[in-house]
Amino acid sequence: MQRVFSGIQPTGVPHLGNYLGAIRNWTTLQKEYDSFFCLVDLHSITMPWEPEKLRAQTLITAACLLACGLNPGRLYIQSAVSTHARLGWIFNCISRLGWLNRMTQFKDKAGKNRENHSAGLYVYPNLMAADILAFHATLVPVGDDQRQHIELANDIAQKFNHDMGVEFFPEIKGLIPPHAARVMNLRDGTKKMSKSDPSEQSRILLTDSAENIALKIRRAKTDPEPLPSEVLGLEERPEALNLVTIYGSLSDKTPQAVLNEFGGQGFGQFKNALTELLAEKIAPIAHKTNQLLEDEGHIIALLRKGAEAAAEVSEPIVQEAERLVGFIR
Ligand code: TYM
Repeated sequence: MQRVFSGIQPTGVPHLGNYLGAIRNWTTLQKEYDSFFCLVDLHSITMPWEPEKLRAQTLITAACLLACGLNPGRLYIQSAVSTHARLGWIFNCISRLGWLNRMTQFKDKAGKNRENHSAGLYVYPNLMAADILAFHATLVPVGDDQRQHIELANDIAQKFNHDMGVEFFPEIKGLIPPHAARVMNLRDGTKKMSKSDPSEQSRILLTDSAENIALKIRRAKTDPEPLPSEVLGLEERPEALNLVTIYGSLSDKTPQAVLNEFGGQGFGQFKNALTELLAEKIAPIAHKTNQLLEDEGHIIALLRKGAEAAAEVSEPIVQEAERLVGFIR
């Protein structure tokens, strides 16, 4: 049976991009496949962080994911399971500097000031490969921005197999949704929706109330033209395309099907319909998240259970990898 693995950084409250690009797929895939989902706190300290905030954000992210319906016994914290860091180190020694130099996420995050970033940020993709391969997972549901990381994970797996003369690590397949794999910033349709954008108005959070959602959609950037009747007419209008894609993804329709309904109308009516749909889908998640957060001890207990299951599956795989590289076990 194929195994599913995916992760999210606990660097803030999960947003609509995380939900439509990844989390929603996790909740359906877990019904069909043996699945693990991870709060990747080791990845979260590759950029500057505040310990108290990291702790709080890890709990909020866990609560949100549970509220979305993730299986409690399969959600856990990365740093609580040692196989990630152990295989990550081996992969630091398999992966090549030339490969890491091509990673666009590193370039984006480090910007001009490369020298001043952590070494962890540079080897981030090696640890991500270890996350997946420590479980011999083959299906990785992610948003579009993780495409290059999945390719690198396959390069690392192949080089490991080649160097050790084995067929040990399987090939990984990224499962990227056909629509909404890259949800854009509500204030600037050329940037992706992200946890790190300074403007709160740029993203819908999974903890937003119906009122908050309404305000953010009302303020979302649009243009003066009415919606066209063909998707082709939206290509040069990133903000409009983004809102149409969000509506479609939430209602399981293609962007074209949304335009069949709303083409020719102005944004006023469309925004009202979108607000209603978002409130219907997101507000219950926010409500459940807040309920769960009332009992942190319970969330921590569930995460520990998840960590036990994750250790049970990944420990024999990583021990075998350790033996293959020549470590005595
Ligand atoms: P992270 O925490 O940035 O995001 C979690 C998931 O949400 C997706 N996503 C989006 N999808 C659509 N539109 C957006 N605007 C958007 N923003 C984020 C991401 O693609 C991701 O699927 N490197 C990963 C975490 C990670 C991981 C792993 C993932 C660590 N180890 C192993 C899979 C397997 C990351 O930073 O995700």
